[in-house]
Amino acid sequence: MIITLSSLKGGVGKSTLSLMLAETIAQSGAKVLLVDADSQGSVSDWAAARELDGPFAVVGMAHANIHKQLPKVAADYDHVIIDTPPRIAEVTRSAILAADVVLIPVSPSAFDNWASDSTTAIIKEAQIFKDELLAAFIVSKKIVGTTIAANIVTALQNYEITVFQSPVSQRVVFAECASGHMLSELEPKGSAVKEIRALSNELLKFVNLEKW
Ligand SMILES: Nc1ncnc2c1ncn2[C@@H]1O[C@H](COP(=O)(O)OP(=O)(O)O)[C@@H](O)[C@H]1O
Ligand SMILES: [Mg+2]
Repeated sequence: MIITLSSLKGGVGKSTLSLMLAETIAQSGAKVLLVDADSQGSVSDWAAARELDGPFAVVGMAHANIHKQLPKVAADYDHVIIDTPPRIAEVTRSAILAADVVLIPVSPSAFDNWASDSTTAIIKEAQIFKDELLAAFIVSKKIVGTTIAANIVTALQNYEITVFQSPVSQRVVFAECASGHMLSELEPKGSAVKEIRALSNELLKFVNLEKW
């Protein structure tokens, strides 16, 4: 399964979610490759900051030929996760074309909602070439105890793209992971881990797999 995280808006949690999903899917026993297609390199920085070996591999591939090169690289892995830049660029289109499923994190603010318009346009364009391409929104950086997320779910339903039921909240531990840590190392039993597991299970059902 090739899973691409994409959104033309920066700061919505693409890099964070790609790391968290890579960790969770790898922990269920699968061989996971995390591809950093963003020349800003958040994921590569994470890997460089990390002193210990991780449960998944990380490779940089910030160019427009991902969809051509990935099949060869991916052959050694069960699943590939691709983190992309927040721009309409050849690399973004290539990462979407390479995908089986595109996940679009949206954080609960009106501007994010507006910005997701152009993200969905790229996905719909890719579906012309690849009609089996799946896509879903993830409510990301939801503020615990507010109802704004409910409004965004309603707004996202206008896009004819699935909205996942499992949100990811704004939690300090997610930001702390950026400096080379894994969630299971910082808070193995916390609410953050539960949210990512719920998301990973929802994704599993969405892509029609029995296990990762
Ligand atoms: N669920 C979250 N809770 C708290 N902080 C988050 C969360 N998701 C992302 N962040 C923080 O927000 C910033 C932007 O997230 P990032 O994953 O880099 O977004 P993107 O890749 O879409 O630009 C980073 O500082 C990151 O640590
Ligand atoms: Mg990023």
